[in-house]
Amino acid sequence: MAELNVNIGNLQLKNPVMTASGTFGYGIEYSDFMDISRLGGIFVKGTTIQPREGNLYPRMAETPSGMLNAVGLQNKGAQYFVDHIYPKIKDIDTNMIVNVSGSSVETYVECAEKIADLDKIPAIELNISCPNVKQGGMAFGVTTSGASEVVKAVRKVYPKTLIVKLSPNVTDITEIAKAVEAEGADSVSLINTMLGMAIDAEKRKPVLSTITGGLSGPCVKPVALRMVWQTYKAVKIPIIGLGGISNWKDAVEFMLAGATAIQIGTYNFIDPAVGIKVIEGMDDYCNRHGFSSVRELTGALNA
Ligand SMILES: Cc1cc2nc3c(=O)[nH]c(=O)nc-3n(C[C@H](O)[C@H](O)[C@H](O)COP(=O)(O)O)c2cc1C
Repeated sequence: MAELNVNIGNLQLKNPVMTASGTFGYGIEYSDFMDISRLGGIFVKGTTIQPREGNLYPRMAETPSGMLNAVGLQNKGAQYFVDHIYPKIKDIDTNMIVNVSGSSVETYVECAEKIADLDKIPAIELNISCPNVKQGGMAFGVTTSGASEVVKAVRKVYPKTLIVKLSPNVTDITEIAKAVEAEGADSVSLINTMLGMAIDAEKRKPVLSTITGGLSGPCVKPVALRMVWQTYKAVKIPIIGLGGISNWKDAVEFMLAGATAIQIGTYNFIDPAVGIKVIEGMDDYCNRHGFSSVRELTGALNA
């Protein structure tokens, strides 16, 4: 068996396979179906300081090889998370990572501070890339100045592993990655969803209440892979790759492109146990190709 453990900053993962925010609830919803502690980590639902109702329905649309969503960070707020969710997930034997969002620098900071106090949460993922909220979200992640400002402020109050989730809706993702690295991010995760749109021709109406939404699933994989490869050449901090991963082969491709670890999102809706299959497939790949550790895959593309 190959060694599967990897590190992201000070975060130690038993393997590089994790589930993406917004697609795997708080993990516990799946614990009857599978051993969720086998995953390297679980990125829980997007959390904001104030509760959010999310956007009006309809807020999902199917697309060829993917989906559009405009959920809009529906959650009950950070205090509810601390009081009601944290006690239920704190003893799960894997890395439980909170995805933090905000509508202003101050609200990002407040939310990160609150989560920092929770002993069993070893890291946060700063979501500066949500395309489905009117204020904040992606607005911070599409300029180097916006990304720098929010990461700098959060870094001051958050001493544990800080992962910054990047938006693909930019001209050059490496500029944003370099900007957040310079402000002390320990890692970048990419990609969040791509801004898209669906139209009902019969009704001559948009399908989503928000008109535009975030595209995810297998259709975005080539874009995500390209961005991981570009970012790998531009920064020194570890990269968590995601976007369209649906099997072990996809996951290996992201590692070869430069990812140290990966997340699986939309595909959990099709097969909630996909993560376990990806861990087993990666192990098998390493054995077949003579890699003693999965860490040797990172950036090992012959290009
Ligand atoms: C229904 C849904 C909800 C999501 N919610 C969040 C969220 O709260 N925070 C976040 O950073 N990303 C969120 N995402 C984006 C995913 O975490 C992921 O970045 C994206 O879907 C690309 O990966 P995938 O193609 O494997 O799904 C959401 C995606 C979907 C489909």
